[in-house]
Amino acid sequence: MTADDYKLNAAMRAMDLIEPGMKLGLGTGSTAAKLVDLLGRKVKEGLDVVCVPTSEATRLQAETLGIRLSTLDETPFLDLTIDGADELDGELRLIKGGGGALLREKIVATASERMVVIADHTKRVEVLGRFPLPVEVVRFGMTATRQMIQEVAADAGCAGAITLRLGKDRQPFVTDSGNCIFDCAFGAIADPELLDEALKCVPGVVENGLFLGIADLAIIGGPGGVEVLEASYGDVATLYGDDGM
Ligand code: A5P
Repeated sequence: MTADDYKLNAAMRAMDLIEPGMKLGLGTGSTAAKLVDLLGRKVKEGLDVVCVPTSEATRLQAETLGIRLSTLDETPFLDLTIDGADELDGELRLIKGGGGALLREKIVATASERMVVIADHTKRVEVLGRFPLPVEVVRFGMTATRQMIQEVAADAGCAGAITLRLGKDRQPFVTDSGNCIFDCAFGAIADPELLDEALKCVPGVVENGLFLGIADLAIIGGPGGVEVLEASYGDVATLYGDDGM
């Protein structure tokens, strides 16, 4: 089995959480795309849901599949968002934004009653930070912003190369909201909450890819099957099978 199969297994399990009439947030990335494909099939069979996409890429995919779409302006409260992650730890803290959609992903996830992460087992880490942390910044004054990020990150115990993300055309990558992204190779992030607070103090930072206290459930596909982790904020239980979902 490949990583793609594990992602698909996680997405298939997450489909069990979707009920008719739900208002859903649709994530971004290769794992979320598998869920959107599966959802498209169910919609063709008659499932009635309304969805808010977390990126233009997901919007396009969902539109093509005939999934009914809305916006957070029309539908400001969602029942469930299902999205991928670049990393997750045992407390269901996440790093997201590898696909550049972190800002909309965080807005949609926090507008949802429940956020469920789907991933393959390689995303599960003991300590966040192997994946460079994406930080979305406004384009004005980016060099100063980069310097400030470096300084506040150092105060939070994090240091490492901060690189402006480039697109396929080697020009600065521009997000769906018109901003740029610094990828911060901090290595192990000992205190994600402290780093998150520090980054929020930098005026040019729009959002960062740490999702803390947001995910309620993680469905992780791997060689041993599908593992389900549930956050109860204060306590994370490992569940197997359908019982805990
Ligand atoms: C998009 O910005 C990200 O947050 C994705 O959810 C994350 O990068 C996971 O993507 P994959 O499912 O492609 O690994």
